[in-house]
Amino acid sequence: MSHIDHDIPSTPGKFKMEKSSYMNRIRWHYSSLAKLTFWSFVLFLGLILVFFFKSPTSTSSPLPSDLSRRSLRTYSWGGPAWEKRVRASSRTRSRNGLSVLVTGAAGFVGTHISAALKRRGDGVLGLDNFNDYYDPSLKRARQALLERSGVFIVEGDINDIALLKKLFEVVAFTHVMHLAAQAGVRYAMENPSSYVHSNIAGLVNILEVCKSANPQPAIVWASSSSVYGLNTKVPFSEKDRTDQPASLYAATKKAGEEIAHTYNHIYGLSLTGLRFFTVYGPWGRPDMAYFFFTKDILKGKSIPIFEAANHGTVARDFTYIDDIVKGCLAALDTAEKSTGSGGKKKGPAQLRVFNLGNTSPVPVSDLVSILERLLKVKAKRSVTKMPRNGDVQFTHANISSAQRELGYKPTTDLQTGLKKFVRWYLSYYDSGKKSAQ
Ligand SMILES: NC(=O)c1ccc[n+]([C@@H]2O[C@H](COP(=O)([O-])OP(=O)(O)OC[C@H]3O[C@@H](n4cnc5c(N)ncnc54)[C@H](O)[C@@H]3O)[C@@H](O)[C@H]2O)c1
Ligand SMILES: *[C@@H]1O[C@H](CO)[C@@H](O)[C@H](O)[C@H]1NC(C)=O
Repeated sequence: MSHIDHDIPSTPGKFKMEKSSYMNRIRWHYSSLAKLTFWSFVLFLGLILVFFFKSPTSTSSPLPSDLSRRSLRTYSWGGPAWEKRVRASSRTRSRNGLSVLVTGAAGFVGTHISAALKRRGDGVLGLDNFNDYYDPSLKRARQALLERSGVFIVEGDINDIALLKKLFEVVAFTHVMHLAAQAGVRYAMENPSSYVHSNIAGLVNILEVCKSANPQPAIVWASSSSVYGLNTKVPFSEKDRTDQPASLYAATKKAGEEIAHTYNHIYGLSLTGLRFFTVYGPWGRPDMAYFFFTKDILKGKSIPIFEAANHGTVARDFTYIDDIVKGCLAALDTAEKSTGSGGKKKGPAQLRVFNLGNTSPVPVSDLVSILERLLKVKAKRSVTKMPRNGDVQFTHANISSAQRELGYKPTTDLQTGLKKFVRWYLSYYDSGKKSAQ
């Protein structure tokens, strides 16, 4: 092949001047040049394809694809029309209504809270990055639901500091309901960095922007019952130890509580952390057991029922979404103002942590029995030993503190709540129009 390199004419002009006696040789050269060009082109195309399939949009990528997908995606925001929507959505209907930035608004809890705030006349602006940790079409459907009630969800990441600053420039939010997070306990083994990205870096970013805002908003945010980790004293009370997390998810939520303490201490931010206990209900999260049990029971697929060591029962303090919403709204309503301004603390500010649970743990096998009755389908149960990958054996909330300070009083038992969930599930995924992924 090497002779080709030497014989290829350097310019077309020189090529044309070659003598006719050399035409055959030249023609041969010409065709081999064409071949070379053709194969280079094929190689080039191939490289492009390889690049595309290796890029973060591929699920088979060995890279931490979810993180890069989240952090590298750029969203379009800004402009007069966009600002107008932001302002309109955040406007309160009453004089002393709140103006709340709800992060994670396209999520399960975020959608319900945004709708409830809007219903009672508060201004609500959503923020969500619509990541594909679970089926994003469900997030889009929730977005459509909120849009109909006048809530605009800004598409963006809580790590985008320019976007957050812009939002606070456009609206003087009185409160931030911070729910955006990487949820789920077992997924941390697959994609640990997504937890650091959203639950730690993202939280710090939110607090940084809040501390610099004038006026500083009061912040209510979602921690988790998982912070109790390997704690065995029941029921879990806010004063119990939380230094033995059993998962990276729990560790990032615990870190969040400590970070909240810091921002309260240094900058005078009013901060309330809510430790949710297994929230369920309509528009719920497909990665949670009650949701995928429903899907699999209907499909006739067997469902894994975890059992602790020595045939111990695995139980959860399932909390219905409407009860959680009431607790969150009460936390917003009782939040005192932040005390800082210009990024400086002016006096001590409120710092709170509350359990929001249901105070009645239910064994997972009972959950399945209730679903069987509601779906009128017998479940194929496969009892398996609980893997040691983040789940704890049971959760049980002591809610006396939330009861006292927030007037929190859950009223929905699992049977009643699941009935509402199943009704929603069947209508949402009706007649195969949407398939539960
Ligand atoms: N559902 C529960 O049982 C439960 C229990 C304990 C704690 N929590 C906490 O409550 C909060 C809400 O949970 P959920 O069940 O509604 O979960 P969810 O996954 O349905 O909602 C979270 C939303 O945040 C968004 N988000 C994630 N990272 C983001 C980022 N970096 N930037 C912008 N948006 C981002 C997601 O797209 C999603 O829509 C979370 O903080 C979660 O950890 C939930
Ligand atoms: C629940 O917590 C409170 C403190 O908030 C405590 O006084 C009470 O004894 C606890 N209840 C139980 C049953 O542990």
